[in-house]
Amino acid sequence: MKQIFYSEISTYLKTVPLFSALDDDEIEMLYALSKTRRYPKENIIFLQGDSGDAFYLILNGEVKVVLLGADGREYILSFLKKGDFFGEMALFDSEARSASVVTTADAEFLVIPRQAFLNHISHLPMLLTKFLSTFSKRLRKTDERLGDLALLNVQGRVAKILLTLAQTAGGLPRAEKWRISKRLTHQDIASMVGATRETVTRVLNDFKQQGHIVAEGKTLIVHKSLKHYLEVLSDHFY
Ligand code: CMP
Repeated sequence: MKQIFYSEISTYLKTVPLFSALDDDEIEMLYALSKTRRYPKENIIFLQGDSGDAFYLILNGEVKVVLLGADGREYILSFLKKGDFFGEMALFDSEARSASVVTTADAEFLVIPRQAFLNHISHLPMLLTKFLSTFSKRLRKTDERLGDLALLNVQGRVAKILLTLAQTAGGLPRAEKWRISKRLTHQDIASMVGATRETVTRVLNDFKQQGHIVAEGKTLIVHKSLKHYLEVLSDHFY
């Protein structure tokens, strides 16, 4: 992975949505408080229950936010990518880390130590507004996932995840089909829907046989028929 240098980071920070309402001096001030850290793929940044000592902004790469079961099973709450942030909750509420964060690709972060973050954030009301907006979006998504866990069966949850991934990849809602280019293993999908890998493999095979999805090289094509399938299923369950 190419290392990013000071001037590039400073320029890049001005384009990050979280910092978009700050002026150049405020961004420079936050940058002066921080350090950059690089981690390889599959590196644990911290574990749920750890004390919160820093805030992280992703400069490059990707992480997953996960809840880990005592038996090693994991539930993926979210994937976060370049421009996203994490680690703010334990700083705002002085509790332990609410989830574990693991890199899913080589990654580079801007890291602001706890005290510096807390000292400065209260002087930056526009930044607080941005935090609130992101919290609301994350809570909305989490509420929806919680509803799916309680109200849909596993076929419905897998269909929903595939359609969500397909549409966040930039597909138009009214298209006939969408392409998921993000590479996910069956285990990743299982960890997103709260099922075993074997169950997910069986559901995906059924979807393939029914023509709802088609594997094309390393990507997956999702057909509109999967949306209809989910609509019918949701009517049945809700
Ligand atoms: P913190 O609790 O400090 O450490 C874990 C981080 O994961 C948390 O801060 C948030 O930044 C992030 N996080 C926790 N829950 C979610 C969620 N449901 N969606 C996205 N990110 C989350």
